[in-house]
Amino acid sequence: MSRQPLLKLEKFSVAYGSVRAIDEVCLELNEGEIVTVIGPNGAGKSTILNAIMGMLSSSGETWLDGKMLVKHSVSQMVANGLCLVPETRELFGSMSVQDNLILGGFYRFRKGMRDQEENLNSIFKIFPQLKERRNQIADTLSGGERQMLAIGRALMAKPRILMLDEPSLGLAPKIVYEVLQTVSSLRARGISILLVEQNARGALKIADRGYVLETGKVALEGLAKDLLNDQKMIDTYLGLGNSSNNL
Ligand SMILES: Nc1ncnc2c1ncn2[C@@H]1O[C@H](COP(=O)(O)OP(=O)(O)OP(=O)(O)O)[C@@H](O)[C@H]1O
Ligand SMILES: [Mg+2]
Repeated sequence: MSRQPLLKLEKFSVAYGSVRAIDEVCLELNEGEIVTVIGPNGAGKSTILNAIMGMLSSSGETWLDGKMLVKHSVSQMVANGLCLVPETRELFGSMSVQDNLILGGFYRFRKGMRDQEENLNSIFKIFPQLKERRNQIADTLSGGERQMLAIGRALMAKPRILMLDEPSLGLAPKIVYEVLQTVSSLRARGISILLVEQNARGALKIADRGYVLETGKVALEGLAKDLLNDQKMIDTYLGLGNSSNNL
């Protein structure tokens, strides 16, 4: 039995004009894994997710289910079960929580699938706060609630691969913990997760494996538990202490 990665990048590069923001990155995401990509501001974390999603053009190879993609467009990636929660969240601000969620399932609806009600209820089970606030306008939600709505909306598409761009950004430590615990619980639902984070410790605590990106290149990679104990990681990204204010 061959166990091939669900998603594999080979010498994956992305350029803005003449500047290479992602430089020959190799990365694998196996079925059922949480893989985190961590690194400082400007390392290329958002760029790599946006390019995997087909929103930026890339060179190198992208493999899905052991097949190399010839075309690499957003619609194809959606059809292949990929979903991205971008750093900017992109909620429909003047619409209700429930309508935002329903729109997340629009692609399935258009394909003739009529399981929106059931999916909505399963999202409300994961995020009871969203159920309580289902008629509230998205723009009036707190930062943590907005993040939950953005994740909930992505889940309405029933993705196989969920890519999250800094879900902890701008949230209070207690809410960061809640959001990351929720991300961790999604693995049990059979969703494979590519998690971009600046909160290296928080991300590594819930991840199986991690990649450290520095100026577009993979500087370090390994099992999350090994990275948490790696001296270079501790010196550069994790600092001293076991939990401190960084989870
Ligand atoms: N549209 C763009 N045009 C030109 N350069 C860009 C563009 N978007 C990003 N860059 C550059 O590419 C590099 C990687 O940016 P990216 O946003 O991917 O970093 P990041 O790791 O997500 O950072 P952050 O943690 O701040 O979100 C940076 O040097 C950035 O200035
Ligand atoms: Mg970013």
